[in-house]
Amino acid sequence: MLRSISPASPPEADRQGLAALARFYAWNAPLYDWTRPAILYARGEAVERLAPRPGERVLDVGCGTGWSLGRLAATGADVVGIECAPAMLARARRRIAGLGLLRPPRLEARPYGGHDGRAGAVDAILFSYSLSMMPGYLDVVAQVLRDLRGGGRITVVDFLDARQPMAAWLTTCHVVLGPARLEALRSAFPAHHAEIRQAPLWRYFLFSGTR
Ligand SMILES: C[S@@+](CC[C@H](N)C(=O)[O-])C[C@H]1O[C@@H](n2cnc3c(N)ncnc32)[C@H](O)[C@@H]1O
Repeated sequence: MLRSISPASPPEADRQGLAALARFYAWNAPLYDWTRPAILYARGEAVERLAPRPGERVLDVGCGTGWSLGRLAATGADVVGIECAPAMLARARRRIAGLGLLRPPRLEARPYGGHDGRAGAVDAILFSYSLSMMPGYLDVVAQVLRDLRGGGRITVVDFLDARQPMAAWLTTCHVVLGPARLEALRSAFPAHHAEIRQAPLWRYFLFSGTR
């Protein structure tokens, strides 16, 4: 059963987590696009599985430096990237400006959650390696259920688990491993496709569900 969320601001524990994330990305953001493409598997496939259509309202939650934003917007969808870490958001802003898109994605500088007037109005939501960084993941899944219209889609690609010492390294990167998030997704979206894949240093999952 998914808990309901506090509307405007995340609980204190989550807020503390967000402050730590902002500090982490303040020094990590400049390295991000050099280091992650080789290790964040199936990001492109996640965009393809979400399959945005022209005019659809699409959220990229935890958009980071915006790797997926241009790919989502290239479909003609109306894309919004939501990102809480200022250093990552600044890079996303620069990346979008460089793409010269007719309908560039819009960016929102905030943690995902709370009431923003979108309830039931979103067609599709992407989480690309971001849900594992959200301590209040049950609140996040509950928010997705509120935001998506009936028949709306969610796709999540993310870390599942790893052996040591990789698990310890991922923890220092604010990644929370384990099956809890995948289980929450499975129970929130009964109509779904879920796959667990082995990468050289960890396992990750790809999940697509329909509201
Ligand atoms: C590993 S990065 C992934 C970025 C991007 N989606 C990608 O595939 O490259 C995770 C991002 O999620 C953001 N994030 C974590 N918790 C968030 C929250 N509650 N609301 C919005 N963004 C969040 C982090 O700041 C970070 O930029």
